Amino acid sequence: MNPFPLSLGRFDHYTLIVPNAAECSRFHTEVLGFGWVREQKVNAGSAPEGEFDMLNHVLHLPGDPSRVVVVTEGLTEGSIFRKYLEAHGPGIHHIAYAVDDLATAFRYLEEAGIATTSNRIVHDPLSGLRQVFISREQTGYFIELIERTETAEEGTFKEGNMAELANSMRSYLHEEEGVESVPSEVRASLPGPLASTMEFIADPKRLPLWTAHQTVMLNEQGNWIERRMTEDVPLKVSREGTRVDFLWSLSDQDFHVEFHLEEREGRVHVTVPMPDGLTSQRVIRTAVAIQSELILLASALGDSVDGDELSRAREEVGRFHLEVYARQGG
Ligand SMILES: [Fe+2]
Repeated sequence: MNPFPLSLGRFDHYTLIVPNAAECSRFHTEVLGFGWVREQKVNAGSAPEGEFDMLNHVLHLPGDPSRVVVVTEGLTEGSIFRKYLEAHGPGIHHIAYAVDDLATAFRYLEEAGIATTSNRIVHDPLSGLRQVFISREQTGYFIELIERTETAEEGTFKEGNMAELANSMRSYLHEEEGVESVPSEVRASLPGPLASTMEFIADPKRLPLWTAHQTVMLNEQGNWIERRMTEDVPLKVSREGTRVDFLWSLSDQDFHVEFHLEEREGRVHVTVPMPDGLTSQRVIRTAVAIQSELILLASALGDSVDGDELSRAREEVGRFHLEVYARQGG
């Protein structure tokens, strides 16, 4: 039985991360009519004992005192909230929905390979209730699933829970950032010989076999295009020495990727420099996708790849396909 779509209950609360909680909440109350609930200062783990690294202004929605927005400001340089703000800018951090049975929902997500920020259910610091965060890669914000029971009291929280949340976010950010820094290139080793490997890579009609570009086709004029949700993007593949160049001419900009090939001891070593002009978030995302594509490519060219590795790569490329397909502009 397909467990999707999940049966989410009612919208519960949402959280903003902003540089100045007071200013942001004043706008919400004075201009938009949100109701003031309270201010909380918390030590989520990065401040010395007795001090705080997180400021929350809790407001209720206009006309609905049972649903809140939490306006969060990081108070220390080292706090995860400040780091998140630097990486993603101000705005919605997460939106929470109630579910009846969190353990089951979590199991469905895990079984479907949908990424969450923690490999177990953690506590919501604002409610003390149990929660799971679905990673933001599909949506641009986290989705919190929260289980409320009748006995649980809304609005109670413990600092220990807040530290737990901060920790799960921290490890997630690290994962996202590839621990240290934004990669400058992706490398892989492929079967040879060079000439036939190169021919395979440079053949547009084979791209759907190993890349996220699964809607590449010839248009009526006989030119290669990639069909996307909002536009057909012209695609040019060219060879220059031992390099294969891909050029997508989007309506607002060009997107260019190069595959540099080199033959050593019967293997073909490929290096793909990360394209210019992308945000660090996009570079990381693109690097992960290309890495997975190169696994599929090695397999398509005859390498025997571990089954788990291959299915992970397929999943990743499938996800990236949906992102690319739905993307507007570059
Ligand atoms: Fe929350």
